[in-house]
Amino acid sequence: MVRAVVFDLDGVITDSTGYHLLSWQQAAAEKGLEFGPEIHEQLKGLTRQASLDVILGSQKRQFSDEEKASILQRKQQYYQEFVERMTVRDMLPGAEQLLRQIKARGRKLGVASASKNASLILERLSLRPLFDVVVDGNQIAKSKPDPEVYSKALDLLGVRPFEAVAVEDAAAGVAAAKAAGMWCVAVGSGERLAGADLIVKSIAHLSVDDLLALGD
Ligand code: BG6
Ligand code: MG
Repeated sequence: MVRAVVFDLDGVITDSTGYHLLSWQQAAAEKGLEFGPEIHEQLKGLTRQASLDVILGSQKRQFSDEEKASILQRKQQYYQEFVERMTVRDMLPGAEQLLRQIKARGRKLGVASASKNASLILERLSLRPLFDVVVDGNQIAKSKPDPEVYSKALDLLGVRPFEAVAVEDAAAGVAAAKAAGMWCVAVGSGERLAGADLIVKSIAHLSVDDLLALGD
C-alpha cells in the first residue's frame, strides 16, 4: 500500500522551469556563453552546480573557478528575483487539489527537490503546511539521478521505498526515484520519461486513485 507521496517541486508543483532557464541564459550571456535547446532538457532536475557542469561541458574553452563561481552567483541572483515575485498563480493547475486529496486519504506528503530555493518557493505558494517532510538542495551532496534526495525523504517520512510514489518531470528525477526503489509517476511526455511506472500529460491529468493504486 502507498503510504507516502513524494513530489519533485520544479516542473511538477510549480511552473518554474522557464524562470530557471531565463536565469541561466542571462547569467551565461554575461560571460559570452550561449547554449541551445538540446541542453535545456538536460538541466531539469539537476542541482545548480551539476547544471553549470552540463552548460560548460558544451563550450569550447575552459572556465576558471572564479568564473564558475560568478556564473552560479549571478544565476541565483536572477532566479531569486523571479522567486520573490512568485505567488499562488505560479502553481501548476491541479497540483494543490491533488495534494489535498492525497492528504485527505491519510497519506503522508513529502518534497524531494534539488533546489536550494525550495523552502522559500513553498512559502510563496502557501503550500508548506501541507508537507510532512521537505528535503531540498541544501541537504544533499549528490544531484539527481543519484537517489540521495529521495532516500533521505523516505527516511524522514519513516516509509519503505515500495510504500512510496515519487512524482517527477525530469529524466534525472525518474532515474533517482527508481534508484531509490520507489514507484514513479512522470509528468510530461517523451521517451526520456520511459523509466517511470506511469506517465501523465500534466499533473492535472493525474488522479489520486491511479496514483495510490501503484502500490497494490
Ligand atoms: C531543480 C530544477 O528542481 O532544482 C533545476 O529542476 C535546478 O533546474 C535545481 O537547477 C537547483 O535549483 P536552485 O534553485 O538551487 O538553483
Ligand atoms: Mg522537476
